Amino acid sequence: MTMRTLRAAVGPARRLWTALLCGWFAAVWLPSGAHADAEAGQAKAQACVACHGPMGNSTNPDYPILAGQNARYIYLELKDFKEGRRSDPRMSPMAANLSKEDMQDLADYFAAQKLVPVPFKTDSASIEAGRKKSAEVLCTMCHLGGFSGQNEIPRVSGQQYQYIVKQLQDFRSHTRTNDAGNMTSVTRNLTDDDIRNLAAYINNLQ
Ligand code: HEC
Ligand code: HEC
Repeated sequence: MTMRTLRAAVGPARRLWTALLCGWFAAVWLPSGAHADAEAGQAKAQACVACHGPMGNSTNPDYPILAGQNARYIYLELKDFKEGRRSDPRMSPMAANLSKEDMQDLADYFAAQKLVPVPFKTDSASIEAGRKKSAEVLCTMCHLGGFSGQNEIPRVSGQQYQYIVKQLQDFRSHTRTNDAGNMTSVTRNLTDDDIRNLAAYINNLQ
């Protein structure tokens, strides 16, 4: 065996070993760390369930469901409420005194819960019109298929109908502007009917 073939054989073996070792560290340390955060979050979440429902499954159409929302998005919204980029008279005071760690724990906790859908009763024509509008505006280019979202882009499937309507109206009227302009421009040409149809369609997605 020449030096070159020896190195060629050892190189990949070392990379494999490193990969295995990294995998072991990830397997041993990461889930327990994430678990601790979610556990700490559960205790802190007691202040939230009055409005957002048990385990973040709001049954009040004014309050968004947090269960199963992306952790990164929850964290960023709490930060936006705390720092005044997003504002609501009921929610802003709740975020005012949260530390960075609180926000991370709460985000991990709610993201780990299972969403229990509250289907809005509507006619199938409205749902179909919403599906068409969504395809036309390319909503899922950002929100992904089924509006499941990713990272800082929220999951909207199964969200409360009335909450979705209010957010789309707030983006359109520039009342909610914490999104760097994406949703503002997306909603600019939506009519009130478009908004109701989109909300009916997305709320009924599982
Ligand atoms: C008094 C009622 C109330 C309490 C208590 C409350 N919230 Fe909220 N929260 C709201 C309302 C109302 C909104 C939606 C505001 C809007 O329409 O923009 C909201 C929105 C949010 C959002 C944004 C959701 C989204 O989909 O964009 C997050 C995240 C959130 N709350 C987390 C929390 C956490 C964490 C707690 C506990 C520390 C909490 N809330 C306590 C009323 C409340
Ligand atoms: C260019 C990317 C992009 C497109 C296209 C887009 N969105 Fe969004 N959307 C976002 C981002 C990013 C946010 C989160 C804004 C923030 O940080 O608060 C958001 C937020 C939302 C929210 C608020 C969710 C919540 O929990 O408060 C709704 C509802 C929504 N989008 C619906 C739609 C619909 C319906 C369409 C198509 C008509 C659409 N979006 C198209 C990027 C996009």
